[in-house]
Amino acid sequence: MKLPQAYASLSEQQAAEHIRAAKAALGPDLVILTHHYQRDSIVAFGDFVGDSLELSRRAAQVRDARYIVFCGVDFMAETAAMLCGPKQVVLIPDRTAMCPMAAMATRQQAVLAWDALTALWGDDLVPVTYQNSYADLKAFCGEHGGAVCTSANAQKVLQWAFSQRGRVIFFPDEHLGRNSALALGVPASQIRVWDPDAPDPQALRDARMIVWKGFCHVHTRFTTADVDAIRARYPDAKIVVHPECTAEVVARSDAAASTSGIVRYVRDLPAGATVAIGTEIHLVERLAAQNPDKTVVPLARSQCGAMYRITPQALAYTLDELTQGRFVNRVRVPKTIQKWANKALERMLALA
Ligand code: 13P
Ligand code: SF4
Repeated sequence: MKLPQAYASLSEQQAAEHIRAAKAALGPDLVILTHHYQRDSIVAFGDFVGDSLELSRRAAQVRDARYIVFCGVDFMAETAAMLCGPKQVVLIPDRTAMCPMAAMATRQQAVLAWDALTALWGDDLVPVTYQNSYADLKAFCGEHGGAVCTSANAQKVLQWAFSQRGRVIFFPDEHLGRNSALALGVPASQIRVWDPDAPDPQALRDARMIVWKGFCHVHTRFTTADVDAIRARYPDAKIVVHPECTAEVVARSDAAASTSGIVRYVRDLPAGATVAIGTEIHLVERLAAQNPDKTVVPLARSQCGAMYRITPQALAYTLDELTQGRFVNRVRVPKTIQKWANKALERMLALA
């Protein structure tokens, strides 16, 4: 849906005035959930700012609010719509805030992979999907005894998965899957890639961990050359990266941590420390502002265009319409999908 011109032409300050007035009018009926990668002018209005796992938990808890406005990307809003109460309404200010990685593994492709791999191994396989996927793929995992994970609990969910069956197929992020399995001690030789465009099940015969060939362009943009350049410029710097980065970048860094893990990592460094961060630039710049006693620099500049689709103008329009009882970009998931997707989400949340 195109933003009406009257809103598209608002200045940031004018949009902020609309947002403030609408928030005051809606009072406790409204909760705004905001991901860490949002721009500051959106984060300023979040009732809660968090990573994907924290926002999922929050969506499951805020039972008093009638409306949840989700400032993040599509799959996160979809998850909120599945975890909130049946009468609550979830809205996303811009429907085109779509994570490209979530589209890299469709349910249909997953079914083909599953059929080929269970023909090899019988039922000795459990599906795990990263939260960064659509509800129908989460439902597939729920239906086949699997679970969802986020970057904050991927290792814990994988441990659980390996306690269920001998092998895991992990959708859709090759890098989070590989980094988490390596951290658990799975040998690199037992971690193999499933390419949905060139499937070769026989070549995977000895694998224990099958990682889908998907990636986040925001995090794979960081290279080992970036790490070396930071080490040359700031010899004492710590380097912390998100586990969606490649295994080579993770190996050359001091730490890999989820979004909330990165926030804690920077907070816990002593005053005077220097840290370079390999994640979305809005979070890096906010951490630099929030930690003036430390030198906080980006490993390189990398922005998530999908997160950036959420503008103050779009949020102002969404909230103004809400004060009139109209729903802009309501996010809903069919009940048949929700039933099994929630099973996979519940398995994750129960492990917390
Ligand atoms: P988190 O699970 O760290 O919030 O990550 C979500 C995401 O989209 C990272 O690219
Ligand atoms: Fe998707 Fe990457 Fe953006 Fe996260 S940072 S929403 S994985 S494109």
